[in-house]
Formats: sequence, structure tokens, C-alpha cells
Amino acid sequence: MVTVRAPATSANLGSGFDVFGAALGRPADVVRVEKADRTTIEVTGVGSQYIPEDPDKNTVGAVAEALEAPAHIEIDKGVRPASGLGSSAASAAAAAVGLNELYDRGLSREALVPIAAEGEAVVSGAAHADNVAPSIMGGFTIAREDGVTAVDASIPLVTCLPEIVVSTRDARGVVPDGARMEDVVEVVGNAATLAVGMARDDPDLVGRGMDDSIVTPARAELITGYETVTSAAFDAGATGVTISGAGPAVIAACRERDRQAIAGTMLDAFDDVGVDARAYQTAIGRGAEIF
Ligand code: HSE
Repeated sequence: MVTVRAPATSANLGSGFDVFGAALGRPADVVRVEKADRTTIEVTGVGSQYIPEDPDKNTVGAVAEALEAPAHIEIDKGVRPASGLGSSAASAAAAAVGLNELYDRGLSREALVPIAAEGEAVVSGAAHADNVAPSIMGGFTIAREDGVTAVDASIPLVTCLPEIVVSTRDARGVVPDGARMEDVVEVVGNAATLAVGMARDDPDLVGRGMDDSIVTPARAELITGYETVTSAAFDAGATGVTISGAGPAVIAACRERDRQAIAGTMLDAFDDVGVDARAYQTAIGRGAEIF
């Protein structure tokens, strides 16, 4: 039997749509795998009532199939589904790392990324690696067709998760088909700034690089109170604020000394618009860990 803890993640970080990702210190899913003749799945924890246990419909079923590693898989959800915090990716990442170990497949962490991404496709309709890459490898990741670049970074973060459900499918439905060249130029500059900020552990550069004028404005419409919460976080010292993944979680980069105040003010701002929320004071963290 193998047990793996795989962290929540934040994809996009604004300017890196479908490319950037970051492992979060918390929350996380814990997945236990045990060899079996056929794959069976049991789900407990946050939002487990919404997650199918049928291996054909669950992200970890596809991972077990891809690795030809049938198992009884117990998923203890710490990451709420449809949160924008890489919930299905955390389960897929943990299963990929756990089954690789259980069956002694010998695959590298990087090689496990596309396998876990296949699991993601089961729930989101497309095989993105921008959540599974950081959940498996840790740190800040740049996921491209030809592989993943990972950087250890230590940037303080606040993620604020409102009690709103935004499905990835719906959030992808509002992504514009095209973009104006001036917006593309601006976003490329932001993305480059953010990547350098990660490499330098510089929260100011990371925050300045999070701005995105192409995808984020359309998705912000799906999140009640987004503008209010964003302004409140900036007023409390956030260096950058954007939608986490497909939303509805909102993520702020900051200096450590401002983190607590930012978390408080984001919660108050959601409360002001009548939305319950919870905040995680966290930082970029490690990838999946085998116990
Ligand atoms: N990059 C993806 C999106 C993350 O924003 O739609 C969610 O799978």
C-alpha cells in the first residue's frame, strides 16, 4: 500500500493561461493505493458527494488505466472540487505518483505529468498539464507541449475561495476566441516579468506580472464580488491579484508581513457582497510526497 499527499495548485497566475502553475502549501488531497485485480475508487472528504466513484468517470481511473496499474484507490479530498485550486489535478497527481511507486514503474516525475493530465481530461474535457505539473513537481511550473520547466520558488500567497461554484467547462466557455495584438504584447511582457520574479523569489515582480487583459476580464464576470475583493487585496498590500485557475478562487501574491491582513480583507470583501468564503494563507510549496 502506498499513500501520497498531493497539493492544491493555482494555474494560469493571470498572464500564463494554460501554461503557468504553482504548487500551494495547502490544502491537499491524500490518496492511498493498493494493488487489486480491477480498479475501484472510494472518495471521502471535502465535496466528495460530487465526485463519481466510477473509474470511467473519475480522474484517477484514467491514470490507473494509463499506467496499467489496477488498484483500490482511496481519495481523501482536502481540495474542494470546482474551486480553481486544482482539485481533480491533486487527485490525479497523487494517483500517478502512488501507482508509479506501487507498481515500480520507474517513471520520472516529469514523465508522470502527461499521464496525470489524461486523468484531468476526464473531468475538464481537455488534457491540461498546468495543474498536474506543479502538483507532481512542486514549485512554479511552466507546462508546454514538449515538457515542463519547474522552478523552486518561495512566494507568500493568499487564496480566497468563495462559496460559488464555477465549473472549468463553463469558465472555458467564456474564453475569447482571439486577442488584440496590443493585449498579446502586454500579456507576454507580464508573463516574462512573473517568470523572472519566481526565479528571483521576488513578490513584487511576481505580482506585477500577474495582470492579464485577455482571459481574466471575461472570467471575472462569473465571480460575484471579484472587483471588490481584488481592490481590497491591493489596498491591504497585495503585489498582484488574479483568478486562481478557472476560478472561483482568487489568488493574491504578497510579502509575508501583509499576508494575514490580505486574507482578512478578502474575506470581508466577499462578505460585503453576501458571499461566504474561506481564505488560505499559504506560499508556493512542494510537490506530491509519498508517505
Ligand atoms: N488553465 C486551465 C483553465 C486550468 O484556466 O481553464 C483549469 O483546468
